Amino acid sequence: MMGGNHFVIRIIQFFILLQFLDSCLALPLCTDSRAPFSSNSSLQFCPYNGTVCCNAYDDLLLKKQFVSMNISHPACASLVKSILCSRCDQFSAELFQIDTAPRQVPVLCNSTVSSNSTQTNQASLDFCSKAWTACQNVSILNSPFAVSLQGRAGAPTVSNSSKLADLWQSQADFCSTLGGASDDGLPCFDGTPVTLNDTGAPPAPPSGLCLEKIGNGTYLNMVGHPDGSNRAFFSNQQGKIWLGTIPSQGSGGVMELDEATPFLDLTDEVHFDAEFGLLGIAFHPKFTENGRFFASFNCDKAKWPECAGRCACNSDVKCDPSKLTPENGASPCQFQSVIAEFTANGTASQPSLANPSEVRRIFTMGLPFTSHHAGQILFGPQDGHLYFMMGDGGGAGGDPYNFAQNKKSLLGKIMRFDVDTITSATEASRLGLWGNYSIPKDNPYTQDKELQKEIWALGLRNPWRCSFDTARPSYFACADVGQDHYEEVNLITKGGNYGWSAYEGQYKFNTSVANTSLGSTIFPVMGYNHSDVNTNEGSASITGGYFYRATTDPCMQGRYLFGDLYAGAIWAGTESPVNSGKFTSSKIAFSCATDSPMRCTETPGSSVPALGYIFSFGQDNDRDVYLLTQSGVYRAVSPSRCNYACAKAAASPPPAASSPRPSGAAYDVERACLHVKKELRWNVMWKVARIA
Ligand SMILES: *[C@@H]1O[C@H](CO)[C@@H](O)[C@H](O)[C@H]1NC(C)=O
Ligand SMILES: *[C@@H]1O[C@H](CO)[C@@H](O)[C@H](O)[C@H]1NC(C)=O
Ligand SMILES: *[C@@H]1O[C@H](CO)[C@@H](O)[C@H](O)[C@H]1NC(C)=O
Ligand SMILES: *[C@@H]1O[C@H](CO)[C@@H](O)[C@H](O)[C@H]1NC(C)=O
Ligand SMILES: *[C@@H]1O[C@H](CO)[C@@H](O)[C@H](O)[C@H]1NC(C)=O
Ligand SMILES: *[C@@H]1O[C@H](CO)[C@@H](O)[C@H](O)[C@H]1NC(C)=O
Ligand SMILES: *[C@@H]1O[C@H](CO)[C@@H](O)[C@H](O)[C@H]1NC(C)=O
Ligand SMILES: *[C@@H]1O[C@H](CO)[C@@H](O)[C@H](O)[C@H]1NC(C)=O
Ligand SMILES: *[C@@H]1O[C@H](CO)[C@@H](O)[C@H](O)[C@H]1NC(C)=O
Ligand SMILES: *[C@@H]1O[C@H](CO)[C@@H](O)[C@H](O)[C@H]1NC(C)=O
Ligand SMILES: *[C@@H]1O[C@H](CO)[C@@H](O)[C@H](O)[C@H]1NC(C)=O
Ligand SMILES: *[C@@H]1O[C@H](CO)[C@@H](O)[C@H](O)[C@H]1NC(C)=O
Repeated sequence: MMGGNHFVIRIIQFFILLQFLDSCLALPLCTDSRAPFSSNSSLQFCPYNGTVCCNAYDDLLLKKQFVSMNISHPACASLVKSILCSRCDQFSAELFQIDTAPRQVPVLCNSTVSSNSTQTNQASLDFCSKAWTACQNVSILNSPFAVSLQGRAGAPTVSNSSKLADLWQSQADFCSTLGGASDDGLPCFDGTPVTLNDTGAPPAPPSGLCLEKIGNGTYLNMVGHPDGSNRAFFSNQQGKIWLGTIPSQGSGGVMELDEATPFLDLTDEVHFDAEFGLLGIAFHPKFTENGRFFASFNCDKAKWPECAGRCACNSDVKCDPSKLTPENGASPCQFQSVIAEFTANGTASQPSLANPSEVRRIFTMGLPFTSHHAGQILFGPQDGHLYFMMGDGGGAGGDPYNFAQNKKSLLGKIMRFDVDTITSATEASRLGLWGNYSIPKDNPYTQDKELQKEIWALGLRNPWRCSFDTARPSYFACADVGQDHYEEVNLITKGGNYGWSAYEGQYKFNTSVANTSLGSTIFPVMGYNHSDVNTNEGSASITGGYFYRATTDPCMQGRYLFGDLYAGAIWAGTESPVNSGKFTSSKIAFSCATDSPMRCTETPGSSVPALGYIFSFGQDNDRDVYLLTQSGVYRAVSPSRCNYACAKAAASPPPAASSPRPSGAAYDVERACLHVKKELRWNVMWKVARIA
């Protein structure tokens, strides 16, 4: 398929990509994978306040643990206390490396590079040797350092009371195990809370988004082919999926997609109406080996007997289906939300059309009303599990049955399934599951028994388009459609409660909705007021997009793009400081590339794209971002093609060898990125090798 030149281009693109990846790390996250929370009062034992990972109870446990260590030496005691308390740091997930190799002791700053540092306190630079010096000869009962050695090849058999010198022969030995961050790109603990390098004002918004039109079909989903090639799957709301080929940038070509030959046609099964249809498609991470893929759609049980599942309105959630008055004269739970599995020959270089018969029904749920059942499905890039976005079920707005905050209801939730291990039918019914999957062992119900096992996050109204940042998988952004005032973007974390319908954005919505969550409400990171957009519909509806990670527009790098369905407006969100989880967003200009392969303006000579409704966004295997609109498929291209200024594009490429790196505990994105880059290099090389 792909010639040698294409291969070389991809390699070059890949190295450019590495240069532009300016941030890779996780947002503030706790060791239990949950979002940190804000606390107005300081903890009693640990010196943490503001945004933290410990509550008063955790603080008490840490104090008990510390006391039980019976450390006689004051300098050592103080250091060990600070190390224990780093669990309360808002970046503790990174300090304890929970996503790679979880540790008992945080990464201790072991910086040997002291020149060029922005951190003035030299002593804190080498926290690791400080810890060794202070504690080397001090007995520590139930030492966390000893635990950190367990399972390590050649580890000494340790008693519970130990000195560092019993466990390691030298400072170098100790610091090679527990130290870090001199050049391996990970944040480290220097005795004080991790601080971000706040560089003041956030970068200015980009001058504009330049678009070219490459297709005139109307689609809801676009997913890059998992083989890494220049092909992508497209699906429409009526129920067809196609495999299309994306022209390379600047070639002047248009998308090749034969509407007459769908990859899969589900229009007979799909119930299509305003908010009903084929709403999501997802390809198994190993699709090229196993050919498994999934479709999320609505069906009508009055028309298709295989479309029947338990009603979301049931006694478990204090809802009586006989009392429902669904819109448009439908019977209660006549319409269903399903996820079905299909198969195709994933190994074939030119995949044949999919087998139209369903392999397995993954999920079925009857819908109480006709709106707010979002429907997107996505595989998590790190865990390989299937995420399913579900709205509050609608019903004249306002979530009248309070489903979104109800921990037993799957409405108003993001769910997470393991579709690699399928629970037997008898076991599934014993567990009260809603289909054929298993529950990932670390779903948040393990920490909150009241939660229905499928739930990953709660308090959503109608999450219309979510995506994982390809450079930082812990950034899982979901746009959630608002009710009367505010359209929001949330960063979804494990067990997070996003407030609806107690809150709409940061505004109180329904004061009689009980606040039942384990943690506090997590408010949106960006969004806009309805008064900020003018629409014919007199309303607004957010459409979530992507963190821009393509090489094409350097001024867009790392920004989160989203739009409004009706207003045809586009926003770019900028995080500052990077990795803080704090964003500012602004509406940005957009126009048609002067050399757009298909005419993209309303009238010749104009530069305003005639987008129509912005239904969705898409991303291809080069991470280029697409708008899927009523009038067709638009790709974000180089700003120069619209005469938008972008200083970064004009600048010569960054030098291959980076300048000396600063050291210290301040989050250094450049270094922090390295380990992700290594992973990425491996992945991309692997893909390139296979498709070339
Ligand atoms: C915490 O403090 C902030 C600002 O001082 C205030 O707005 C907020 O209401 C306080 N929250 C609680 C729970 O006391
Ligand atoms: C946290 O503690 C520091 C030092 O004790 C204090 O200056 C700061 O105001 C506190 N912040 C909050 C949010 O309580
Ligand atoms: C704690 O340490 C002191 C001496 O430093 C010792 O006398 C005492 O027995 C120790 N307590 C425990 C419970 O080991
Ligand atoms: C710890 O003990 C070793 C060996 O007895 C000694 O050389 C070293 O100076 C001691 N360190 C401290 C900080 O007391
Ligand atoms: C070591 O500590 C653990 C837990 O703190 C305890 O269960 C175990 O019995 C202790 N072992 C020894 C040899 O004291
Ligand atoms: C920490 O520094 C020591 C030298 O003091 C070095 O041997 C060790 O490899 C370093 N550890 C890490 C993880 O960088
Ligand atoms: C655009 O749509 C027309 C029909 O409306 C179709 O004939 C044409 O092939 C389409 N062009 C492309 C590039 O898809
Ligand atoms: C899939 O396609 C490959 C290559 O064309 C072929 O060798 C293989 O037999 C096919 N597998 C199935 C199950 O059809
Ligand atoms: C607020 O919530 C209560 C309890 O769930 C519900 O009865 C009421 O209809 C809701 N009000 C609005 C305005 O949605
Ligand atoms: C589980 O799978 C069986 C067989 O495919 C199917 O009949 C059933 O409807 C599925 N269950 C759900 C709840 O989707
Ligand atoms: C929810 O309730 C808890 C406990 O009463 C409280 O700490 C928290 O601030 C509340 N959250 C909101 C958003 O009201
Ligand atoms: C902090 O930001 C400044 C300005 O961008 C930069 O020069 C410095 O190297 C950064 N320091 C660290 C530790 O990242």
